[in-house]
Amino acid sequence: MSNALQRDLERLVARVEREDGPQAAADPRRQQYHLMPPVGWLNDPNGLCRCGDWYHVFYQYGPFDVTGGVKHWGHYRSKDLLHWEALPVMLYPDQPWDIHGVYSGSALVEDGVMYLYYTGNVKHAGDYDYIKAGRGHNTALAVSRDGVTVASNTLLMENRDYPNGLTCHVRDPKVWAQDGKYYMVQGARTLDDQGQLLVFESTDKVNWTFLQVLKTPRPFGYMWECPDLFCLDGQWFLLCSPQGVPHEETRFQNVYSCGYFPLYGDFRGEYSLGEFVEMDLGFDFYAPQTFQDGTRRLMFGWMGMPDADYTNPTVDSGWQHCLTVPCELRREGDRLLRLPAVEVTALRGAAIAPETVKVFDLEAYTQSSGRMVFRNAAVLEWQEGLVTLSFLQGGAGRTVRRVALERLHTLRVLGDSSSLEIFLNNGVETLSTRYYPQPEAQGVCVSGAEVRVWEMGAMQVTKAEI
Ligand code: FRU
Repeated sequence: MSNALQRDLERLVARVEREDGPQAAADPRRQQYHLMPPVGWLNDPNGLCRCGDWYHVFYQYGPFDVTGGVKHWGHYRSKDLLHWEALPVMLYPDQPWDIHGVYSGSALVEDGVMYLYYTGNVKHAGDYDYIKAGRGHNTALAVSRDGVTVASNTLLMENRDYPNGLTCHVRDPKVWAQDGKYYMVQGARTLDDQGQLLVFESTDKVNWTFLQVLKTPRPFGYMWECPDLFCLDGQWFLLCSPQGVPHEETRFQNVYSCGYFPLYGDFRGEYSLGEFVEMDLGFDFYAPQTFQDGTRRLMFGWMGMPDADYTNPTVDSGWQHCLTVPCELRREGDRLLRLPAVEVTALRGAAIAPETVKVFDLEAYTQSSGRMVFRNAAVLEWQEGLVTLSFLQGGAGRTVRRVALERLHTLRVLGDSSSLEIFLNNGVETLSTRYYPQPEAQGVCVSGAEVRVWEMGAMQVTKAEI
């Protein structure tokens, strides 16, 4: 199914990728083992799933504007999370209900068919605040039988179909099947500026009934973006990215937050939410999404932050942002631990001296205090009670992030050309950040730790000829 607007957009995307792609590809800050946009802008991971032999990763893609622009669903697929095919854009803003952006959403896979639920963004012309008026946030369903093209696209719900008392901001459907039914959660902002989730139920994937609201007893931010709700090892978790949570010294240090509540009881009836735990304490982590892969739950996040006051100099080369590596979530009581998926380890080459690395995987046993300097740019320091991440240079406006931690025992750091993903105590806390060392800068200087370091190979990303 394609329409004239889609065909025009297809040609425009192909042209901008052809014309601007080489400049982006030549940037020394281009990542070796993280998914990036070919050109332009990337934000949230969308529609993560496994369909047959393929993992699919869609992402919010702004091909025409390095600072955002109108969102499409970019598309990668892989059989092993290491060799990727870049596929044509899956969803274009080509319907009346998504004309100003195909916003975030999720995938449900059933009998080899992919059901992609997303938010269609529409901004009406006029003098509006676009919060309480002037914006349509529509829930839509695109169906794909081959995992590469869209067979049908249907509008399911508009703002008037959502409960009363909400602003126009209702978005980011996450859908799953359970007990012979289908469930959907969406993030919402109320008229009195409280973040919450809406739960819907369906028997046919198309007609949805509102069930109830999930919220905290006391307000927690004004909007909850990109919700996810899943059961891991017997415990339910509500993952979301709340906006408007007040900053603290060692928590909620970013402009917007991202984390989870343990959910007790039943999300369809009596429930309560436990204490919110941040998913990452670095500068650049937002809007993660999880999916079930056999017995494990995998997650990708966006290694970026909306409206941040720090920047990414890659903008000069016509591209911005990347996804995190795939991570596996494990449960420990009411907490989630997060570690790189085992596949990432397969990119390790030879073990080498820390003084010579640029793109690396590092494991360390740490003494009670110590310090590491990465490529003469980023500094990680730890002592009893506190871990800090700061920059000698190359932070591009990033300052300091603090983690309250009784004692650091182990450390794993994935370093790519322009990012660090830091896992403390086997994934109890993590810090993800972009950084921009001098291209020739190399080496990790270590004190207070015993380290092993491997050089990392590049993921293979090829353009699919379809
Ligand atoms: C989160 C978000 C989502 C929205 C999308 C638009 O980063 O704001 O709520 O669907 O990005 O690109």
